[in-house]
Amino acid sequence: MNPPVPSMASTDLAREWSIVHILSMWYRDHHRRLPWRETRDPYRIWVSETMLQQTRVETVIPYYHAFLERFPDVAALAASDEEAVLKCWQGLGYYSRARNLHRAARLVVERHGGRIPDDPRAFLALPGVGAYTAGAVMSIAFHRPIPAVDGNVLRVVARLENLCDPVDHPTVRRRIERLVEGWLQQAEPAVFTQALMELGAVVCTPRSPRCGACPVRSACRAHRAGTAEDLPKRAPKRPRRQKVVLALWCETGEGVVVEQRPADGLLGGMWQLPAHELDADALDAPSDAGRDAESGGAAEAAGPVRRALMDCLQRVFPGTACHAVRFVEVARERHVFTHLEWSVRLFRPEGMPAGARVDRTRFRVVCRDELGGLPWPRVYEKLISGALQMLI
Ligand code: ADE
Repeated sequence: MNPPVPSMASTDLAREWSIVHILSMWYRDHHRRLPWRETRDPYRIWVSETMLQQTRVETVIPYYHAFLERFPDVAALAASDEEAVLKCWQGLGYYSRARNLHRAARLVVERHGGRIPDDPRAFLALPGVGAYTAGAVMSIAFHRPIPAVDGNVLRVVARLENLCDPVDHPTVRRRIERLVEGWLQQAEPAVFTQALMELGAVVCTPRSPRCGACPVRSACRAHRAGTAEDLPKRAPKRPRRQKVVLALWCETGEGVVVEQRPADGLLGGMWQLPAHELDADALDAPSDAGRDAESGGAAEAAGPVRRALMDCLQRVFPGTACHAVRFVEVARERHVFTHLEWSVRLFRPEGMPAGARVDRTRFRVVCRDELGGLPWPRVYEKLISGALQMLI
């Protein structure tokens, strides 16, 4: 009698079993010792998962330690003011993460008596908590089988399943979430969630995946099909919008004029020098961008750059006759955001009339020594240090 032929279902089950259990065992034996893996405190795990969005592990580690030193628990974070939180986050980028974490901590105190809810619906209702963060905190801290699908996990699953459709398409993403959810039902969620993340970070890397070192390569359909390097597919990205930011270094006898960005939106709540943002195509003609002054080659603003700087100067010093002012460029920086690119140019007004008064309802005047106490976006930190070197 012929031996029974294994059915599709049993081979699929064996494959699933190996994905779940072999990957979990591999994680237990091989994972990197990272600070947020030494704790079961949901607050610490939440902070780490928030910081790790769009940010590399090595960048996060010092911020994670400093943040928890300063705000060791939800109550401490809730009791602090936003500026202190942003200052601690300075340099990590995506500052809405910090503002939302702070607001969410206040709500955890108000609504949940300071205990982070282990119910995904209640946790998802907090500002800044999306499906990924909820899945990560619920599975890692509370052992609930809720998927946390980030870029690493999308890639790992797209390869395991040889999914050739774009993973940023909502239906493909949902399919991946459902697959992970099914695996989590059979796993220890805290281990399996992190195992998928770890595999994506150290073995199943975007370029040159180390398939030879992969514990689940025998279950990997892309490995079998030879497509691992080509996956995941993504929809083509739109080019980033190009913006020019024209900023002013206005220094009065009392200090440097600074302003806070609106609470919502890009770099919300961070500080900056008075600035005017415009689309780069508004300045397309090179002759408009500025011309070299005869003295020493320092670029002096002309055309629409000068007009925009003049508008900005009039906001800072309303009612002051500034028509004779010259704007001399003192520093320049570029900064790339996810959907946007900034080219920032910093100008110093020369020839300001004596007695010009700053509009203190919109701006603050801070002496040079105190500039470092405010939360600045990285690009402004660099501009200010450039300006300070030039303007000793
Ligand atoms: N990226 C996102 N979450 C992570 C985690 N918990 N460990 C390592 N890298 C991560």
